[in-house]
Amino acid sequence: MMRPMKLGGEQILFGEGSLAHLETLNFEKAVVVIGSDTFIKNGLLDKVETHLEKACIAMETFVGVEPNPGFETVKKGAAFMQEHQPDLIVALGGGSVMDAAKAMWIYYENPGLDSLKPLMDKKTFPKLRKKAKFLCIPTTAGTGSEVSRSIVITDDKTGIKYGIGNMEMMPDIAICDPVATLTLPKGLTAETGMDTIAHALEALASTRANYLSDIMAEKAFVDAYETLPKVLENPKNIRRRETMLNASMVAGMAFTNVSLGIVHSIAHSLGSLFNLSHGLSNAVLLPYVLRFNSRDEKTAALYDRLAGEVGHPSLPEALTRLNEQAGIPKALKDLVPDEQAFMDKLDRLIELSVNDGCTKTNPITPTYEEFKTLIMHAYHGQ
Ligand SMILES: [Fe+2]
Repeated sequence: MMRPMKLGGEQILFGEGSLAHLETLNFEKAVVVIGSDTFIKNGLLDKVETHLEKACIAMETFVGVEPNPGFETVKKGAAFMQEHQPDLIVALGGGSVMDAAKAMWIYYENPGLDSLKPLMDKKTFPKLRKKAKFLCIPTTAGTGSEVSRSIVITDDKTGIKYGIGNMEMMPDIAICDPVATLTLPKGLTAETGMDTIAHALEALASTRANYLSDIMAEKAFVDAYETLPKVLENPKNIRRRETMLNASMVAGMAFTNVSLGIVHSIAHSLGSLFNLSHGLSNAVLLPYVLRFNSRDEKTAALYDRLAGEVGHPSLPEALTRLNEQAGIPKALKDLVPDEQAFMDKLDRLIELSVNDGCTKTNPITPTYEEFKTLIMHAYHGQ
């Protein structure tokens, strides 16, 4: 049975200049959540404050969301919100900041909660929007977190990353202004751009893919594939930044509804065990997983059609080439050079990948042994 599609919250704004939409909002106090002080130094936070001031919205800033945010940071942010009582929460950053801010929102709204456990079950997932609405301004293109119901939060004690999804967490307002992505460094532009491509391709091959998600994911794939090398060549080109950010948003709308596949399952597991960057892991894994999934006839036909759309005879090879252009390493061994350390955790890596939520919607459900072969091919670059 089809699941209902939800493409965003109340408002979605995109394109150059859309940040000015902040001036039309009707709130009293905003807490803006940022990662490091980068946006204080480069003036982006000032821009946001100026727009909020025009709407007579007071602003407080929570600084200090780390990459792969942990539950301790979530609790700190929620305590900061308790102190300042915002009726608007603004996440200004990439996936980590948006995910952490969504989680802070949950614990701010529900101060009685003290663990991630109630979030794991649909029946116990807490209600939101009693105190505040949630707004995202993505500064990477990207995770699509601005239009997704998902978060990834790390349990600080075990190091395990929990991917949690619930439509309650869909941001109310998403403002995707490419100006906010202009200063993103080249490496992060490449990694997050490849994450967008992984979202699009995995949504297209998902066993839950549908007419609407296909339209969004296919456009996102073609645009991101064609634009990413051009953005890397000329990072200050606002039009190309805009195309990447729009593609990220639309791929996010697709995957948050139809889920992903084993590129993400393995990347989540690698993130938990080796603390690797999400986008980088996805990028390295993509060509290997595409080859594996091509065993399924319908998926192979889909990949051939997509390869044709970007003028290439083979989709896995097209992705290998794109990785080369983007400066992404060829094999997992380049990310975890200590082979013994990798082998020591291989069983756990496979176990986590088998049980990851994204495995369910991959076109083929790999066995334990198939996961092992696939991961070892990706490790040695075969
Ligand atoms: Fe992703």
